Amino acid sequence: MTRVSSDPIDVLRSRTSEKWADHPADVLPMFVAEMDYPLADPIRRALHEAIDRGDAGYVSSHNPLAAGFRGFAQRRWNWDLNGARLLTTADVSMGIVEILRRVTEPGDKVVITPPVYPPFFDLVAEAGASVLAVPLREAENALRLDLAALERAFASGARAFVLCNPHNPLGHAHTRDDLETLARLAVVHGVTVISDEIHAPLTQPGTTFTPYLSVSAEARASGFAVHSASKAWNIAGLKCATMVAAGEGPAGILDRMPSEVFWRTGQFGMLASAAAYADGEDWLDGVLEAIARNVESLDRLLREHLPEVRWHRPDAGYLVWLDFRGRGWGSDPAERILEEARVALSAGSEFGEPGAGFARMNIACSPELLDEAIRRIAAIPPGERGQSQS
Ligand SMILES: Cc1ncc(COP(=O)(O)O)c(C=O)c1O
Repeated sequence: MTRVSSDPIDVLRSRTSEKWADHPADVLPMFVAEMDYPLADPIRRALHEAIDRGDAGYVSSHNPLAAGFRGFAQRRWNWDLNGARLLTTADVSMGIVEILRRVTEPGDKVVITPPVYPPFFDLVAEAGASVLAVPLREAENALRLDLAALERAFASGARAFVLCNPHNPLGHAHTRDDLETLARLAVVHGVTVISDEIHAPLTQPGTTFTPYLSVSAEARASGFAVHSASKAWNIAGLKCATMVAAGEGPAGILDRMPSEVFWRTGQFGMLASAAAYADGEDWLDGVLEAIARNVESLDRLLREHLPEVRWHRPDAGYLVWLDFRGRGWGSDPAERILEEARVALSAGSEFGEPGAGFARMNIACSPELLDEAIRRIAAIPPGERGQSQS
């Protein structure tokens, strides 16, 4: 397996994408979901070769992405996509909006489950629908789908549900049981489920990602999935994602999408994603190992320096959801952490109301940076500002 480690800090600081360009040099950026690792060799090769050929035109409809993704899904998740319809577009967000546009009328209610990936609020609005928040519920000391509340929301007239599987910011991969129940409820109430599965390739060995469309005929009849190589191989700026439909109704909706939806796919994104799915698994396994090592370090660092902070190890991904409420830093700990520790986290309140008092941390970085960030954060005194100095 390829051993993957962070690029040196001077290389990271020379990057011009959001993570390393948005804050001054004294800030450790641990917010937006970009990784500090170098690109996988198969991706570098594919992109260099394309540049050498001057191959930067429009994506051809005869491209290798669908076959690559089908193979990856079969090997990784035992998910047979042979009968499924795949349609490529620029990114997962656009895929969600394009599907919502076709399954809702203006003003219809679309369910999301906060705390959840903040742009979901905007994507529902962009599609002309309105958000119906059904917060996750605390079960066995963890946050899970509230199936009873989802049933009530579906019965009240919601038309669609944007599911996050695995869930950002928790990194939780929903169980087959929960997904089966969800699919049954969706069919009973005529709700379309759009399963955002962008974090799925980052599922840790020993935990299980269940593709929503694999759970039942009911899921396939009423659901879509949206996938991308962009999070797992760190190529979000290249713009490529794949909508998946495995039932007759949803496949018809993909077939009727205007061809412009496909034309928005980035050529470099398609080439890089195809290389990732076909030849990038060794690198991906190396990344998973690097993340797992950081999860262990974080556990140790938090126990030692910030024992009041509660969190759960993610099943998938490199984002961790930290509960700072026991530290007494109020509803927006990320603001204070940025000002006083010069560490940029994502503010919990952006993930919806249940996010108050929380912050999300991106740990796809070097162990040294993680160590430094936790030490800096732990140096902020507990309690309200000024309180503990008196
Ligand atoms: C759950 C989830 N969906 C979608 C996205 C954005 O994907 P894209 O850039 O393909 O729109 C992210 C980015 O972090 C994400 O975490």
